[in-house]
Amino acid sequence: MPVQELAQAPDDLAALDLTDPQTFLDTDPRDLWRRFRTESPVHWHPARGRTPGFWVVSKYADAVDVYRDNKRFTSEQGTVLATLLQGGDSAAGKMLAVTDGKRHREIRNLMLKSFSPRVLEPVVAGVHRHTRELLAQVVESGEADFVSEVVDHIPIHTMGELLDIPVADRAQLVAWNTMTLSRHSGEDSEFESLMARNEILLYMAQLMAERRRSPGDDVLSVLAAATIDGERLTEDEIVLNCYSLILGGDESTRMSLTGGLIALAENPEEWRRLKAGEVTSDSATEEILRWTTPAMHFGRRALADVPLRDRVIRAGDAVTLWNTSANFDEEVFADPYRFDVGRSPNKHVVFGHGPHFCLGAFLGRVHVNAMVEAVRDTVADITLRGPATRLHSNFIHGYSGLPVALRAERTGPADEEIR
Ligand code: HEM
Repeated sequence: MPVQELAQAPDDLAALDLTDPQTFLDTDPRDLWRRFRTESPVHWHPARGRTPGFWVVSKYADAVDVYRDNKRFTSEQGTVLATLLQGGDSAAGKMLAVTDGKRHREIRNLMLKSFSPRVLEPVVAGVHRHTRELLAQVVESGEADFVSEVVDHIPIHTMGELLDIPVADRAQLVAWNTMTLSRHSGEDSEFESLMARNEILLYMAQLMAERRRSPGDDVLSVLAAATIDGERLTEDEIVLNCYSLILGGDESTRMSLTGGLIALAENPEEWRRLKAGEVTSDSATEEILRWTTPAMHFGRRALADVPLRDRVIRAGDAVTLWNTSANFDEEVFADPYRFDVGRSPNKHVVFGHGPHFCLGAFLGRVHVNAMVEAVRDTVADITLRGPATRLHSNFIHGYSGLPVALRAERTGPADEEIR
């Protein structure tokens, strides 16, 4: 939906319910976050009914400070509104995203070995090839739902190959991922989301048991065989971290791919600059990541009293950091609401910051870059054929449907001759 059709934020910011996914569907995000940044950059979101209150941090500099400070702000009591407000995450101390301190460093160093640019080098060409193949099918048929026919097949394919997940099971995992992190509509229930999470965990547990019996060279087998100070990881640690790779690796990346195509379609001058080679695909990739910011927020719980601007965050308070605002902070980004494929510098926090900085940032970038280059080289025009369907979530910003028409780029002089 174009931004101008959305409601402005209410006069009293305290009237906004940021726990309600509907707020993000109804309210103009530009107006909403500009208001928070200027009027109440460190804002106390009041409790509502049984939902406790929490801090809303909307400025870039403050978000970076909190992300960096994992001594005074812990991840172990949840990192998204859903878990933070319910008082914790059952994976704490085992899954990277919700583990701090020594164990976090140990598991992270282990997992980084499988996700460094050098190790992933052979995967990059595969992502580019696969993206071009899927796009070529749409270009050939002319029209498609970009989400279900292209995007839904890309990151899961990569993660599936890395973890050696049978091809036949991958579509089901994508469906469970969406159900776990966001909803297709307001009618899907919290219970369904919990069930989907359990299905992924169960699936991973079965796969881990198989890999322990007959290991391969995939990431799951590597984790299952790995030792830290001579001790193997526990089964929970292996299963939960593979679960987090599937979830983290798939959902956000898909959202950037879809949002990126929309941005290129809606900004013809930027599309022209990209096609004309006036900007690099790397620079367009960074701007698409900033523009789409799929993980709207992450959060922490304060372990000490911490002054932030004119407020004091008290020990025990939940703090949410809104990447979706920080990445449009006018103190850091010139003309932030301009989609500028040549933007430089572009130090967004789409992958977070500090000790929990996204483990899959390189891979996320590779996927967006592959789409940028494939679209640039093989598509002449992108036409949006109807409104994109927004996901229902207070955490993930993105789309579950996008009807598009893609017209093929002429391939070269041979075409001229045929005509
Ligand atoms: C952490 C975003 C792709 C796996 C994070 C964090 C953010 C993020 C903001 C920090 C969370 C925090 O500080 O609490 C994204 C976005 C992606 C993406 C926007 C795509 C555009 C991926 C991929 C993978 C992945 C491809 C898998 C390979 C992880 C993991 C963590 C993480 C395991 C936890 C790291 C830690 O706690 O040390 N991601 N991510 N992400 N991400 Fe990603």
